Amino acid sequence: MTPPAGSLLWAEQLRKAYGPTLALDGAEFSIHPGEVVAVMGPSGSGKSTLLHCLAGIVTPDAGTIMYGGRELSAMSDAERSALRRSEFGFVFQFGQLVPELTCVENVALPLRLNGSSRKEAERAALTWMERLEVDELRKKRPGEVSGGQGQRVAVARSLVTNPRVLFADEPTGALDSLNGERVMELLTDAARSTDAAVVLVTHEARVAAYSDREIVVRDGRSRDMERAV
Ligand SMILES: Nc1ncnc2c1ncn2[C@@H]1O[C@H](COP(=O)(O)OP(=O)(O)OP(=O)(O)O)[C@@H](O)[C@H]1O
Ligand SMILES: [Mg+2]
Repeated sequence: MTPPAGSLLWAEQLRKAYGPTLALDGAEFSIHPGEVVAVMGPSGSGKSTLLHCLAGIVTPDAGTIMYGGRELSAMSDAERSALRRSEFGFVFQFGQLVPELTCVENVALPLRLNGSSRKEAERAALTWMERLEVDELRKKRPGEVSGGQGQRVAVARSLVTNPRVLFADEPTGALDSLNGERVMELLTDAARSTDAAVVLVTHEARVAAYSDREIVVRDGRSRDMERAV
């Protein structure tokens, strides 16, 4: 099989075993630029494993993953990590901000690691913090902000490199529903405005409602729910 026309990231027949556990057993996936796809399914069904494979963090035992016309498994480790740094953004359940850095330093960090000057990186960081409505927290450390604010800082950090794909694994899992919805609104608006694709892993139908399409994973197999946009 070849990827459908216009798909940015595409996978088929993914298998991944952890000892006797088959985490992925023939999973498939496809996403277009600017599309928000929710990956749903029960705990232990393989959602995070699928996300980690698509992002080139975990290598599947079998199957094909194509990103922008290139096969992930054909790339060297260095090429894959360069891809993760420059083309992919990540948001996790517990923001995983660096506690010793201020919020603006956290958001600027991916640009600093890619070689930008402090001034340049922090200017871009502040633009994203304004969009996520957390610019007033620039001087605070992660320990001094609320859960919802911290997640919005984490979203700003994930977008500061202008990624083509944003991977979000339960980004609102630690938030109450009001904060969760605000994070989802801002995240999807920001991603759509930059035409980034979003791979959104979530348990919650309320969160999946922000997506264009849903994929359900069960026992390591995925099924496209073909929900109309
Ligand atoms: N690093 C690992 N080592 C061993 N087993 C693993 C590892 N990662 C995942 N698994 C197993 O693979 C299966 C799928 O796990 P995965 O984390 O992908 O599920 P999930 O759908 O993300 O679950 P949750 O909703 O609880 O986060 C589970 O049975 C899990 O125990
Ligand atoms: Mg998971």
